[in-house]
Amino acid sequence: MKKHLSIVLSGLLCSLATASFAAEQAVPFPEGYRNWLHTKSMLIQPGHALEDPFQGIHHIYANKLAEDGLKTGKYKDGAVLVFDLLNYVEKDKTIQEGDRKLIGVMLKDAKKFADTGGWGFEGFAGDSKTERLVTDGGKSCFGCHVPQKKTDYVYSEFRK
Ligand code: HEC
Repeated sequence: MKKHLSIVLSGLLCSLATASFAAEQAVPFPEGYRNWLHTKSMLIQPGHALEDPFQGIHHIYANKLAEDGLKTGKYKDGAVLVFDLLNYVEKDKTIQEGDRKLIGVMLKDAKKFADTGGWGFEGFAGDSKTERLVTDGGKSCFGCHVPQKKTDYVYSEFRK
């Protein structure tokens, strides 16, 4: 019985250690991003190459360190960019924001995320702060950002 308990306990400790490792690796939900620099917006319509899953209106936000990065093309650790994707509704000859589909997040940490260009990639479903969408360590996100190597894998540019 004692032996059994110790096996259970060591199993538990082991999974706790894995969980805290995962948490350490993880990109946190970007609290307060709607108060950051609004970098740009775009409407992606059906038929566009990025339609699945990016059809909708997206707004991009940059924290202070990412704002500096947009201006210099080089991003310091701690820079965060957010891709805020909303459904859209056509109404009375307008195109209006609908529900949130997801947010995409890029967090710069050159050492921690060395395998994906120094960026941690994460997605959060809808309005959730905990339902994470990235299951491959950000490899497929990064794959599509690779062509932007010149600007540290970021597509957006600073505009006044
Ligand atoms: C098929 C290509 C593609 C994939 C896959 C992709 N992205 Fe992007 N991403 C883009 C493009 C293109 C932009 C620029 C959009 C714009 O100019 O408004 C962008 C912009 C962003 C931005 C804003 C910063 C920037 O580079 O302009 C973030 C944050 C972001 N993506 C996160 C993610 C995350 C997280 C994933 C994976 C869940 C992901 N992306 C997967 C093409 C992609």
